[in-house]
Amino acid sequence: MMIHGGSFEDGVLDFSVNTNPCVTKEMMETLLVKHADKGLVYPDIDGEELLQSICSQMAIEPSRMVLGNGATDCLYRMAATLKPKTAVLIEPTFSEYRKALSLHGCDVYSLTYDFKASKSMAEAQILDQLKKVKAEMVVLCHPNNPTGHCYSEDFIAQLVKNQKVQKGYVLVDESFRFFEDIVSCYKKDEWNLIVLTSLTKYYGIPGLRIGYMTGNHSLIETMKKSQMPWTLNGLALTVTKDLMDNQGLKEATTAWYNSEKIYINNALSDLKGLEVLKSTTNYVLCFMDEFLGTEINQWLLAQSEPMGIRECGDFGGLSDSYIRIGLKSHEDNEKLIHQLEEYWRLNNG
Ligand SMILES: Cc1ncc(COP(=O)(O)O)c(C=O)c1O
Repeated sequence: MMIHGGSFEDGVLDFSVNTNPCVTKEMMETLLVKHADKGLVYPDIDGEELLQSICSQMAIEPSRMVLGNGATDCLYRMAATLKPKTAVLIEPTFSEYRKALSLHGCDVYSLTYDFKASKSMAEAQILDQLKKVKAEMVVLCHPNNPTGHCYSEDFIAQLVKNQKVQKGYVLVDESFRFFEDIVSCYKKDEWNLIVLTSLTKYYGIPGLRIGYMTGNHSLIETMKKSQMPWTLNGLALTVTKDLMDNQGLKEATTAWYNSEKIYINNALSDLKGLEVLKSTTNYVLCFMDEFLGTEINQWLLAQSEPMGIRECGDFGGLSDSYIRIGLKSHEDNEKLIHQLEEYWRLNNG
């Protein structure tokens, strides 16, 4: 069973990953050569230059933000710092929240809801269920992995308010917000709102790794103090800064995203018995009446040009009838669609 995307062998065209294909190998080679000297010296321990740059773009005080070796590093360090005793996840969602929180003795509960319902109905359902569960931390993934669902501003504000009454936190993971330019929900006046962001998705650097967390002064200060020196590597810091300053990349990504999202949505919707759920980011979750993700993957991987999609049986609240597909270049997306059409044809779909 899959636990994460990106676990296929080399040579497989991998639609289980959700990284930006506009960041190409050629771009990466140029940047790595440009910053090669950073591999020869110790990096700045706090990644001060990148931190300042992100903070000034977001108008946040640097004392309220910490960088990490990917968002996962920030998540695990936050869990080790706050050690909440109870937490609620809105399933289906990213599996690392449970692992990070459980490591420190947290009882992690799952709340499921009708993610196919309208946004307002879904949010009302979640708030209603949360009234019955008192937890020190509620975790929201916004947009959510794997559904692509994003929450309304009012809903997040309400949740923050409700949690504050019981001295509890809300952790919002905004790692996939950049593809649709969703504004960050971070508010410095809300001491109980923690925001997690990965830069490995939008900037296509899962191998280099950078992420950040914003939160109240005391949490961020403690996280900075407990950080091991040099966990942020110099190449990741400088390459990320260049990618973030690259306006052309942002424009190319927006153009690619807008056209490929329509192409993939339309082409997948033409497959009989397949429902594409509305997504606000660079992947789509699909429900299939007749076929199973594991069987489709077996077949896709056995073809002369092997490819793979994200099976979803391991996500709480989902089953093997769901698949998640990450958007890639138009050429690659066409190859997948062609293969899926063939699978449907061979299996009388
Ligand atoms: C919702 C979500 N948050 C965070 C991460 C981890 O990001 P990073 O690569 O920065 O550790 C992932 C990775 O898949 C994710 O799906």
